[in-house]
Amino acid sequence: MAPVAAQDLERVHSPLMSPLLWDLGHIAACEDLWLCQRAGGLAPLRPELARVYDAAETPRVGRGDIPYLRLDDALEFMQQVRERALEVLDRADISPEGDRLNAHGFVWEMVVQHEHQHNETMLQTLQLAEAGVYVPPNQPGTQVADPREGPETIRIPGGAFGMGDAGRGFAYDNERPSHERVLAAFEIDRTPVTNGQFGDFVEDGGYRMPELWSDAGWAWRERERVERPLYWTSDGRERRFDRLTAIDPAMPVMHVSWHEADAYARWAGRRLPTEAEWEKAASWDAEAGRARRYPWGEERPSPDRANLDQLAFGPVPVGALEGATPDGVLAMLGDCWEWTASPFTGYPGFAAFPYREYSEVFFGGEYRVLRGGSWATRPSVARNSFRNWDLPERRQIFAGFRCARDA
Ligand code: AVJ
Ligand code: FE
Repeated sequence: MAPVAAQDLERVHSPLMSPLLWDLGHIAACEDLWLCQRAGGLAPLRPELARVYDAAETPRVGRGDIPYLRLDDALEFMQQVRERALEVLDRADISPEGDRLNAHGFVWEMVVQHEHQHNETMLQTLQLAEAGVYVPPNQPGTQVADPREGPETIRIPGGAFGMGDAGRGFAYDNERPSHERVLAAFEIDRTPVTNGQFGDFVEDGGYRMPELWSDAGWAWRERERVERPLYWTSDGRERRFDRLTAIDPAMPVMHVSWHEADAYARWAGRRLPTEAEWEKAASWDAEAGRARRYPWGEERPSPDRANLDQLAFGPVPVGALEGATPDGVLAMLGDCWEWTASPFTGYPGFAAFPYREYSEVFFGGEYRVLRGGSWATRPSVARNSFRNWDLPERRQIFAGFRCARDA
């Protein structure tokens, strides 16, 4: 946020998003709530701020008008919270014998991942803002090799697999309980759909063929007059923050809604993978009979395997990185979130922990699940079992998709 002007930190850049300063204060307020108050038993540091930064009490529409802290106050609040959180940590019992919040450091990891998720949200806001509000610092970028040769689709054999958190690290409540799913054999694209492929759909008139769209999708397209991905221009360029460049056909298509992904898949004679298919393709090691935490195994993400962590500040060409699954599927983590066909619901036996508002209140609505993480996702939240969700008309997420079909 350092390079962003003060008035741009306070502005509502899009009705979909909070002022950036709200996110900042909210990160600190959640740290105080979960670490200092709930895990540490302290009284609130600033009780009057509880409502202001409660996401459920203050919907994003309207957050511009509530009395959130301005820059210096927010930074000071954050600093004070951080200091007392570290004191609580000094005496916390994060061993397996600790209370349920502290055991295995659960709530501490949760707060880290919460902050990291808001980092990506804030980048969505900065991408939605007018060009010039945010000029990314010169990023070192990811070293990219030539795309790996291989088949267009990969066949995943039918049968049972273990879905959800395998218990080898932090997971949110919505990733649990792990359970068995039985799937028929299917094919999934080896890489996400590219700008080049999506451009063929646009040129073929895909945005003018109602038969390719669901009813809700076509109604949305008509209402919003959508004709191309969010940051594409009519003269064949794509905007990323302050930069307008020619659309690169080798890059994954991004900033399309679920409706656009669904229509493209139908045009291509295919469909979106279900959430379970996506996870099986990403995680299932049939030979070992167990799920991997990452597509390549158990080692933490690194830049040669997944384009994450805001290092490249954009996607890399599809298939350029290592990090293949046992079956040879590429780029399941990083570059772009991937829309799946599935609505967001709880797994059988789901139990909210530690709060319903993280995921349970979104179950059973119109939300669709996205998987995999983007170039803007911090590695702490990139794992095969992680579930993201948004409404099918949303395009501000750093999201693309890949297709599947019955085998
Ligand atoms: C999981 C990304 C949908 O941004 O609404 C942040 C993450 N939850 N603070 C969101 C979240 C509470 C959440 N998503
Ligand atoms: Fe939050």
